[in-house]
Amino acid sequence: MPSYSDFISKYPAYDKTHNIDELREREYGRLDRLGQVYLDYTGSGLYAESQVRRHQELLLGSVFGNPHSSNPTSLAATQLIESARRAVLDFFHASPDEYIVVFTQNASGALKLVGEAYPFSKGCHYLLTFDNHNSVNGIREFAHVKGADVTYIPVLLPDMRVDEIMLATYLDMETAGCANLFAFPAQSNFSSVQHPLEWIEKAHAKGWDVLLDAAAFTPTNPLDLSRVKPDFVPLSFYKMFGYPTGSGALVARKSALGKLHRPWFAGGTITVASVQGDKYYLADGPAGFEDGTLDYLNIPAIEIGLKHLESIGVELIHERVRYLTGWLLDNLSVMKHSSGVPLARVYGPLTTEKRGGAVTLNFFDKNNYPIDIRLVEKAANEHNISLRTGCFCNPGAGEIALQISRMELAACFSQSDHVQRLTYDDFRTCIDDKASGAVRISVGLVSNFEDVQAVLKFAEGLME
Ligand SMILES: Cc1ncc(COP(=O)(O)O)c(C=O)c1O
Repeated sequence: MPSYSDFISKYPAYDKTHNIDELREREYGRLDRLGQVYLDYTGSGLYAESQVRRHQELLLGSVFGNPHSSNPTSLAATQLIESARRAVLDFFHASPDEYIVVFTQNASGALKLVGEAYPFSKGCHYLLTFDNHNSVNGIREFAHVKGADVTYIPVLLPDMRVDEIMLATYLDMETAGCANLFAFPAQSNFSSVQHPLEWIEKAHAKGWDVLLDAAAFTPTNPLDLSRVKPDFVPLSFYKMFGYPTGSGALVARKSALGKLHRPWFAGGTITVASVQGDKYYLADGPAGFEDGTLDYLNIPAIEIGLKHLESIGVELIHERVRYLTGWLLDNLSVMKHSSGVPLARVYGPLTTEKRGGAVTLNFFDKNNYPIDIRLVEKAANEHNISLRTGCFCNPGAGEIALQISRMELAACFSQSDHVQRLTYDDFRTCIDDKASGAVRISVGLVSNFEDVQAVLKFAEGLME
């Protein structure tokens, strides 16, 4: 197998990211101490020891009460929440005059806030790429209920990108005088394709509101909201810096947030609600979208996490991830069985241009038959390698990558015993003879050459 010196001669600038090796030793020593090869950064990021320590010190050194009040402990909590809000805006260079941060449980929570409150109506459109996480797909159910048209834009093999001419045609179908929403991921959690951020202004110019799913993008790419202006940006903080879990945000343009009509009110979201008067008044700003008590003890850890990322530099992380991804792609794409059959088929771009650090593929045996992803995962587990298998909650990209047709799906879903319930195993059996999922190897913040080499060695072990 090619060595470190081969790697460095191909990616000499990797050496300039040695700060991250030192950081890994200092702050993420548990990875090597426990012999864990962590390659699921698209699933979740990892936290540094100092993040946990700082958070713990903060909690142990203060008294925090429920923020919905004006007593001293409540105010202490409110102060930290507002400071975290400002930190999020600063991190993404978002002007507080233009953007608002609504804290949510995760990216899915942020997406649901938009979906349930967006003013879809008959004759209007929800337009989205095939390549989307299920929590973006799920918004279509709100659109259906309100009678809006739902249209998917396909991504094309082999690179799994959208054809720009086709996109322009789809954007032309916006209906004037309607609320039309266009949703796409800045980075695919399936193929890692980075869809162009230039689409945002193209869509705006044609009257669309734009939802940019940034959950998979923000951990290793700078997002500058002073340059690009999506209306709704859902994200999960644990994907960016591992800790705390259970916290995400909807970063939204004030003007776009003003278009949303929440279907209910809750504690914390109103200024006044009356039982006898059967009336409520929604609070202005983020409060109107934050149901009940915020996770006020964990929210301060978001600011700690953002500072941690800033201290490393997202650009540096991005570059390092690019080199490691390149090395993965270079090597996986040339491995062959003795029969000449390629070992791996990568879904998505084979170069590091406009793509992130996830490499999604299937392994094939020497007879060119896909190796069951469950067996791959089991074997990887035995090597302490954490990778991910399945469709990663992105069925549209999965169906295109694996060439599962609409007809095959319809035949499967319409079987009488599948009308109400379908397990993943049932689905596998329906989609007979084909891979119904894939293997995702994703590098991130503190990945190193050894991690990548370990998974390449593992792959080599599958060669016959
Ligand atoms: C692109 C993308 N969007 C949305 C989500 C949903 O994130 P969460 O599960 O944190 O709500 C994910 C999670 O994997 C994702 O990768």
